[in-house]
Parts: sequence; structure tokens; C-alpha cells
Amino acid sequence: MTYLLSASILSANFANLGEECKNVLHAGADRIHFDVMDNHYVPNLTVGPLVCKALRNYGIDAPIDVHLMTNPVDRLIEDFAKAGASVITFHPEATENIQHSLDLIKKHKCNAGLAINPNTPFKYLEDYIDHLDEILLMSVNPGFAGQAFIPESVENIKKAKAILDKHKKQIPIAVDGGIKLDNISTVAKAGASIFVAGSAIFNTENYSATINAFREKLLIR
Ligand code: DX5
Ligand code: ZN
Repeated sequence: MTYLLSASILSANFANLGEECKNVLHAGADRIHFDVMDNHYVPNLTVGPLVCKALRNYGIDAPIDVHLMTNPVDRLIEDFAKAGASVITFHPEATENIQHSLDLIKKHKCNAGLAINPNTPFKYLEDYIDHLDEILLMSVNPGFAGQAFIPESVENIKKAKAILDKHKKQIPIAVDGGIKLDNISTVAKAGASIFVAGSAIFNTENYSATINAFREKLLIR
């Protein structure tokens, strides 16, 4: 099983974002999770395609997974694809035509994901499973960094895994929100293989030590 750690920039020092991304990747993170909030789909406001492009220009060449917490999404899909996104994930409730948005992501040669909130019906997964490269299961309600992992999310991961098995799909399940050293093994055992962590990494002094500690938790299965 390949496990990936995706570092959410939301808890990084934005005044020093390029360096923060370099450091976290050097410390062993596999990719950068780029949280886009629009003060409409969620109450918070973060960063857009210009900042993604700036990271690419700064020399960040690891995959950037863009998590759109915005409504609408289509215009931003195009802009983020041009700005160097590798994966683009959106919330199905936030677009008028899910298939069109997924097709748009593919047209721009990015990987496509659907982001599923704790209360989003799983029907979206069933309906679009053939068009997804990954699933982003939210283990908090989106909008803010540093929230506590919702324990019921473990059941949701198992449900998503069961849907994938039923359809004989091997796409990865990413889990986002409140991932810490004390829950990452449970989340992995439930079926996730990509772990998004923001505050658990960026709020520590030594990113390498933190990421190594995460990896060690993933060895004990
Ligand atoms: C929540 C964001 C998450 C979050 C992760 O709305 O999508 O990516 O910032 O941060 P932590 O790991 O601090 O929960
Ligand atoms: Zn996110």
C-alpha cells in the first residue's frame, strides 16, 4: 500500500509560503494540499490561482492538490489548471453540472476528485465513480484549519471503501481534517491512503520529525 502525506498550506506561514512548501516537501511530505475558500461556499477566504502559480515559479515541483471550497467551481478549474494544479477536487453541491466540472478538469489534464463533507450523501460517489481519480473525504466540516477530527468519519471511510470495492475501483481515498498522530493509523486501517494534515505538521517546530512520526504510525498496521 502506498501512503501519501499531503501538507495543507492553511496552517503554514503565508508570509513565507514558498519556503514553507519547500521545507515541508524536503521534510518528506509527498504533496501540497492547496485549500481554496471563497467566503461564499465556506465563510473563510484564502488564496487563488495566482498564489498557486507563484509556488510553481518558486520551484515547487511536487504535486499540488487543489481543494476548491468554492461555489461556483468551473472558472477556477480552468485558472488553477493553468496555474499548475495537479489534482483538482470540488464539492459536488457547489457546481451546477458535476459531470461538466469533472470533464473540465480532465480536459486540462489534471486528476479529478470529489470532496465529500461529513453529511454529503454517498450517492454522489456511486454516480460519478467512473470519472474520479481520487476521493477527498472530509473528516471536519470545511472552512477552517485546526478543527477536531469527527469520529464518525471512520465509518464514512469504510463506506467509501466498500463502494470502491463494489465497483472494483482502486482509486485512493484521501482524508482531510483533524488528522493527527493519534488517529492516522485508524484512518489508514479504515481504507484511506492519502492523509491531508495542516496544523499537525505546520504547528510543530521540526517538520521532518513530525512527518517521520506519521510514517511510523503507518507502519504499524
Ligand atoms: C478544512 C480544510 C483542510 C484543513 C486541514 O476546511 O479543507 O484541508 O485545513 O487542516 P487541519 O489538518 O489542521 O485540520
Ligand atoms: Zn482541504
